[in-house]
Amino acid sequence: MEAHGGNLEATARRLGCRPSELLDASASLVPFRLPLSARWALLRADLRSYPDRRSQRLRTLLARLHQIEPDLLLPGNGAAELFTWAARDASQCGLSVLPQPGFADYGRGLRCWDGVMRCFSLPLQWDVAFPQALPDCGSGDVLWITNPHNPTGQLWSRASLEPLLERYRLVICDEAFLPLVPNGEAQSLIPLVAQHPNLVVIRSLTKLYGIAGVRLGYAVAQQPRLERWAAWRDPWPINAFASALAEAVLHDPRAYRLWCRRVQRWCAEEGQWLSHQLARLPGIQPLPSAANYLLIRGEHDGKPWSLQPLREALETRHRILLRDCRSFPGLGESWLRLGYQSRRGNRRIIRAMRMELSRQRR
Ligand SMILES: Cc1ncc(COP(=O)(O)O)c(C=O)c1O
Repeated sequence: MEAHGGNLEATARRLGCRPSELLDASASLVPFRLPLSARWALLRADLRSYPDRRSQRLRTLLARLHQIEPDLLLPGNGAAELFTWAARDASQCGLSVLPQPGFADYGRGLRCWDGVMRCFSLPLQWDVAFPQALPDCGSGDVLWITNPHNPTGQLWSRASLEPLLERYRLVICDEAFLPLVPNGEAQSLIPLVAQHPNLVVIRSLTKLYGIAGVRLGYAVAQQPRLERWAAWRDPWPINAFASALAEAVLHDPRAYRLWCRRVQRWCAEEGQWLSHQLARLPGIQPLPSAANYLLIRGEHDGKPWSLQPLREALETRHRILLRDCRSFPGLGESWLRLGYQSRRGNRRIIRAMRMELSRQRR
């Protein structure tokens, strides 16, 4: 069973088709084409020279965007690389608390360093109104937060997160999806980093620009921690394509904000449309989400039923991939996660689901 969505090559091989024939709603990426300036930047990237090991230009652009000092920033080879270093610090602090169901990569990072962890089960029912208060996750030394949460799509309020900085020795907050959420930035913990040496915020360009193949994320934390991480890692983790692309999309703060606004409008409109359509399908219950993905639960007369036959039929008969949730602790075969597409793609998903559900009921 896959512990991550978006495995296009392997799935296409299994189904005997080309990756481009698949509609991938198992990963949650913005479906827009990259800005032209970014595509040009890729063509012009300097492939001959070693990249700048300090990523000075990129750090300066990110610092301007978030209105913080460049010393508080460290770009990484995707957020995933930075989780590995955050996990090294976490494993030295003590017990890590992981709200579940949650993103599997934090556990992968902790296992690299023999880190000890405890899972906290989040309630599987929540309100439609966002932001919400993160439930009390109990005692421990390190708290891993995902805001908005993956896979539930819940947006946590900054007001509920800030007091946790007094309770835990280290707080690691993954904001990979936050720029996609309408009004999400108001809940970011980035403005708290300068005052809190025990806070790490991790961001990613993967979802926002639909560039999972490029690998670019960044950590926001105080300088001694980031200098330690920089000394541990490979010498050139940010390749020339990643820095050229990131610099192109970030060099004009106004263009970045316009892009975010467009993405957030899409997220709100498609989320509303999809929830409405999904709720009309028999035996499907969509859960409220602030993010660009949502969970659905199979339910008949108040009892759960397996959505695996539906997921498999969508894959084999319609070339549509939804996220199998059996790898998330606490979720099982009656849960699927669906990443929003363009309206055309979303219509294709709903049409295929309607057809397969009526076939299964016959
Ligand atoms: C919550 C969350 N954080 C981070 C990532 C990884 O981001 P990146 O592609 O920058 O490694 C993912 C990818 O699925 C994710 O779901």
